[in-house]
Amino acid sequence: MAPAVLFDQGQIESAVVRVGSEISRDHPEGVLLVAVLKGSVMFLADLVRAVDVPVTVDFLAISRFAPDSGRVRIVKDLEGDIAGLDVVLVEDIVDTGLTATFLLGHLRALTPKRVRVCTLLDRARRRIVPVDVDYRGFELEDDFVLGYGLDFQERYRNLDRIITVDPRPLADDPDLHVGELFAPERP
Ligand code: IMP
Repeated sequence: MAPAVLFDQGQIESAVVRVGSEISRDHPEGVLLVAVLKGSVMFLADLVRAVDVPVTVDFLAISRFAPDSGRVRIVKDLEGDIAGLDVVLVEDIVDTGLTATFLLGHLRALTPKRVRVCTLLDRARRRIVPVDVDYRGFELEDDFVLGYGLDFQERYRNLDRIITVDPRPLADDPDLHVGELFAPERP
């Protein structure tokens, strides 16, 4: 299966603007966006500019014990104190829900006023644990996706669009689609 565009730049921009206005509407007093490194960095960068209430940002970085194990540990914690604050957790994709559930537990233990969940992509049909997603850019079916922050072994994050690919051949050659996706257009 050749890579195919699932959401182009215009669709992503419209979704980000919509989500930004939903977050603004719900947080007139301001909001702290907590983004999960590295996949949600592109989304966060665009989202903060689509929010028109006072906004601050902080970051968490996680590492998985094994791919798809759902077991996660925090390798970079928040810099600031979130006690009493309105927080929105910003994810690239909520899939099984295991990561978001772990991170929500971590954040809630720090006694914020409230934590809501925002994800660019929501693949609800793969859920193992339920997650209340408050803000979502797009719903996904089964497609494996790359681009706009989402990677395969650190590749493809810098695509300006979200594509679907068959992940199986990528396991043997992570660079498989790099040439065709990033090749400069020739006249
Ligand atoms: P989960 O909700 O705990 O299953 O995991 C979500 C994480 O899995 C995301 O933050 C991504 O890092 C990764 N992930 C899940 N689906 C995809 C995909 O289609 N492409 C790239 N990464 C994915």
